[in-house]
Amino acid sequence: EHGRHKAARGLRFDAVAPNTADTVTVPEGYEQKIVIRWGDPILRGAPAFDAERQTAKAQAGQFGYNNDFLALLDLPGERGHQLLVANHEYTDEQLMFTGYDPENPTREQAEIGWAAHGLSVVVVREDRRGGALTPVPRHRINRRITATTPFRLTGPAAGSELLRTSADPEGTTVLGTLNNCAGGTTPWGTVLSAEENFNQYFAHADSVTDPEHAARLKRYGLSGGASDRKWERFDPRFDVTEEPNEVNRFGWIVEFDPYDPESVPRKHTALGRFKHEAAQPRLTRDGRPVIYMGDDERFDYMYKFVSNRRMARGDSRAAREHNLGLLDEGTLYVAKLDGNSPADQVLGDGELPRDGEFDGSGEWIKLASGDTSYVEGMTAEEVYVFTRIAADKAGATKMDRPEDVEPSPRTGKVYVALTNNTDRGKDGKPGPDEANPRNANKHGQVLELSERWDNPAGTRFAWRLFLVCGDPEDESTYFAGFPKEQVSPISCPDNLTFDPYGNLWISTDGNALGNHDGLFGVATSGRNEGQIKQFLTVPVGAETCGPVVQERRVLVAVQHPGEVDGASAEQPGSAWPDGPGKVSRPAVVSVWRRDGRDIGA
Ligand code: FEO
Ligand code: CA
Ligand code: CA
Ligand code: CA
Repeated sequence: EHGRHKAARGLRFDAVAPNTADTVTVPEGYEQKIVIRWGDPILRGAPAFDAERQTAKAQAGQFGYNNDFLALLDLPGERGHQLLVANHEYTDEQLMFTGYDPENPTREQAEIGWAAHGLSVVVVREDRRGGALTPVPRHRINRRITATTPFRLTGPAAGSELLRTSADPEGTTVLGTLNNCAGGTTPWGTVLSAEENFNQYFAHADSVTDPEHAARLKRYGLSGGASDRKWERFDPRFDVTEEPNEVNRFGWIVEFDPYDPESVPRKHTALGRFKHEAAQPRLTRDGRPVIYMGDDERFDYMYKFVSNRRMARGDSRAAREHNLGLLDEGTLYVAKLDGNSPADQVLGDGELPRDGEFDGSGEWIKLASGDTSYVEGMTAEEVYVFTRIAADKAGATKMDRPEDVEPSPRTGKVYVALTNNTDRGKDGKPGPDEANPRNANKHGQVLELSERWDNPAGTRFAWRLFLVCGDPEDESTYFAGFPKEQVSPISCPDNLTFDPYGNLWISTDGNALGNHDGLFGVATSGRNEGQIKQFLTVPVGAETCGPVVQERRVLVAVQHPGEVDGASAEQPGSAWPDGPGKVSRPAVVSVWRRDGRDIGA
């Protein structure tokens, strides 16, 4: 028994065994409770959830669908309360509506879908004894941001011709945010949220005849006819032949002030446009934010943005206004990685490189700064709006789907979840390299990046693979050198966060080992480095998202429970959370220790 005393502080719990239980399974001695689920009322006037009587008006005041990123923020002045922020990535109409006809959605269904996207801000009350959290509906700070909420485009490409539409000839105001995946919180008190697979909402790319327009759409994954949800029937902005630039107004990092429900959220053009997975800042020694970001696509890239401006301290109106502009001026970079192992060794065969580690050096390549482009043949505005094309030209390293990117608050080392890439090494596709070492990579890896001189504004870094995921019995796996018989199997790392002790927590999406997704903790230094332990598992069809790990509480977003082949609102794929035969509802769950002590202490 390699039990609890040998684990690092914060990770002293009995690991949950891999399983396929249709529930949230937590370690022995831990309790759990749902905090909020899809449809729960948040705003004044919103009704209780009624699966058979959904309306767009009701949904606009209720918690949205498919919660992904979570932030749990202090709420000064209100003891025993915190502020919960959740993303709502996408809708699954088949699971939401009984009698849904995918060929003929109704306008009301489309509008419910718009209202179920975006973000929720809701005050939650802490339980006096345990770790349960209860929403406070109708609190004045509560807010819903949806696919129709006005956003301001800011930064060097705002107002560009590439961003103008018939409804917005200035190119500065966008309606809504779509496919918000993970995100981040800033030291100046705002929330960042990443627009990811926005391509799926836009129709008729196959009818575009202009070759440059078609090539740009294709690089962003748009090639088909009608969209899955057919929203183009109800709003022509979703038809790229009607409104060619509307799609350019999605795929950005969004920032908003969760404490001010009247504030206008922003889309930051300086951070580039791609399938943004997440964004998490770190400050330079002189107080400028550096934002690390991933583009979640097979063979796409890792980026960072370095601001020119220093963060203002304090909570004055002037300081807040200043800080909301921090991400508008700076330099956008993309990463190029080189391995240092013998070049004649064939990687992808399940062996460690002959020098014992998957590691090497790297360079941040400048793409654009303000109005200056560093990419031949592209203006700065083109670099910001078609960042993928700029990074292709710059010779960036094609990675295995960069998901969450998280700097350690303790060490400054940056961790990148490379979730999987089953196309690696396929005919006509790039083969393995030292950072992406496996062909047909089903289980993914976690990369650790160390900026030279620990300077996040610099252009050189060192890197190594911290984890090569999979079944520890599979010889191609690697857990920072920790003995493999003492680790939990992990597959498809996605979201990352740190606990108060500096341990990395990893949630998974798409477990390819035959068990359900879950949440794992792992020490990143010391004698337990690499000892990965599973903390919980989620129900049928669900992905584990948004982990927040506080001293006494772990929060996860259970996204798309019941999303399995053939499932529908009539025949749910999971009985979670409301019981057998009830429509599946994505929800946020809080977990704590029954004896009231700290998590994993
Ligand atoms: Fe929405 Fe890349 O996960
Ligand atoms: Ca090496
Ligand atoms: Ca994700
Ligand atoms: Ca994912």
